[in-house]
Amino acid sequence: MSAYDVVVIGGGPGGYNAAIRAGQLGLKVACVEGRETLGGTCLNVGCMPSKALLHASELYEAAAGKEFASLGIEVKPVLNLAQMMKQKEESVAALTKGIEFLFRKNKVDWIKGWGKLAGAGRVQVTMADGSLNELQAKDIVIATGSEPTPLPGVTIDNRRILDSTGALSLPEVPRHLVVIGAGVIGLELGSVWRRLGSEVTVVEYLDRICPGLDEETAKTLQRSLSKQGMSFRLGSKVAGAVVKGESVELSVEPATGGAAQVLEADYVLVAIGRRPYTLGLGLESVGLTTDKRGMLANEQHKTSVPGIWVIGDVTSGLMLAHKAEDEAIACVEKIAGKAAEVNYGVIPNVIYTRPEVACVGMTEEQLKAEGRAYRVGKFPFTANSRAKINHETEGFVKVLADERTDEILGVHMVGPSVSEMIGEYCVAMEFAASSEDVALICHPHPTRSEALRQAAMGVEGWIMQA
Ligand code: FAD
Ligand code: NAI
Repeated sequence: MSAYDVVVIGGGPGGYNAAIRAGQLGLKVACVEGRETLGGTCLNVGCMPSKALLHASELYEAAAGKEFASLGIEVKPVLNLAQMMKQKEESVAALTKGIEFLFRKNKVDWIKGWGKLAGAGRVQVTMADGSLNELQAKDIVIATGSEPTPLPGVTIDNRRILDSTGALSLPEVPRHLVVIGAGVIGLELGSVWRRLGSEVTVVEYLDRICPGLDEETAKTLQRSLSKQGMSFRLGSKVAGAVVKGESVELSVEPATGGAAQVLEADYVLVAIGRRPYTLGLGLESVGLTTDKRGMLANEQHKTSVPGIWVIGDVTSGLMLAHKAEDEAIACVEKIAGKAAEVNYGVIPNVIYTRPEVACVGMTEEQLKAEGRAYRVGKFPFTANSRAKINHETEGFVKVLADERTDEILGVHMVGPSVSEMIGEYCVAMEFAASSEDVALICHPHPTRSEALRQAAMGVEGWIMQA
């Protein structure tokens, strides 16, 4: 039996960051991960492979469509899907190896196996060769992440009916891909395959895409994606799917009830959300239970059992890698006796489509529901010189600020490179900046970031460049 200060179960962005921070703080730490590689969903089958395909498919479409030609670059690209997948896998392998390096650097022991709580302060690990390994720890951090939510009647076989993992590794470009769920995964992976040549139909239960996103922002994104050729069936539900050889027949009904229609596809992606993952974790051995959704509750990252902590997708909040990372830092610092807190009001949210979406803070709908008086500054990318020169003028920057104090309450952007620019507003909001603060800060010209400043000027009604 090996004794540790901290044992982390799960090696994703929650778990690996917790383990690294514990190592940095001089704690004796082990991270239990059953996958063959570290990095969790994010590095192996989530953020990173999806961004690899988004990047490659964006360039392919630019070359294959009118974009390159309009810039005076005449090419006839040939899609080599196997190479596109290979470069994705090589990047992923390099990233997961990078976590192994960071573990060595910070003296984190990687215990390669599946962990299970085995009573207070104990974790039993089933190692890859089937042997059992018992660990003792003063503190245990659960960071076991999440898995795709299944849809009754639409059985995932990762051959024709796919989850996100299957959709990241298809051997061919679908003729017709039906995506169930107009959320982040559906729109990102739907974009990848549309760019590579698929017809893409998105079936969404609600009457809008991306629930939770600022409504105007979501509508703008939907308009752009529709213009690119993605079709949307909102207010619709899939009642069942039958695989017939190389095709799938889906029965699609209005969400409010009514006659079903048959939709034919060669591939289907089910992307209706993710659910917390605690299978085989031995929660009962310490008296922990999950809620109806399978989620473990936390208060300041503590579960109801002393010495057992929980972070990341397996607990409440947004299922995002950087949220898991923030919780990892705060949780381990608390374990080490330091003061730490996550500011859940300033967790950015990005959709890596083209145009991109990037948001932080409250939406207009939330502010209205709270009856909070606010002012809006909005600047379109059509009026931003860099966006214009690059022919990427879709979208806007919208800043919402408190009517009385001018404090920035929310920022919602659709447009080019907004994923890289939202950080500016995160910093501003962490420092409780007013819109005037941003409006008075010099931004480099010509950059898209000038749109951030102009939108801030707009809150006080003095936009200068539109
Ligand atoms: P996970 O990353 O799920 O890691 C949990 C790990 O625990 C897994 O490796 C699992 O094998 C291991 N584990 C589980 N149980 C045990 C056990 N009993 N013993 C040992 N190991 C165990 N988020 C973003 O912020 N940006 C993005 O661009 C983004 N893109 C995404 C794209 C896709 C297709 C998907 C599916 C997700 C994406 N996400 C993105 C979400 C992001 O991947 C998750 O929010 C993040 O990985 C959560 O981190 P985590 O550490 O909580 O869990
Ligand atoms: P999601 O919650 O983003 O979207 C799911 C969509 O499916 C919603 O619009 C929902 O209304 C719809 N839906 C639910 N049940 C349905 C049904 N029966 N029929 C039709 N539509 C239905 O979930 P998604 O896209 O699966 O992603 C899971 C999570 O992964 C995200 O919430 C996010 O936290 C994370 N992620 C983050 C990314 C990023 O940060 N760029 C990229 C990909 C995933």
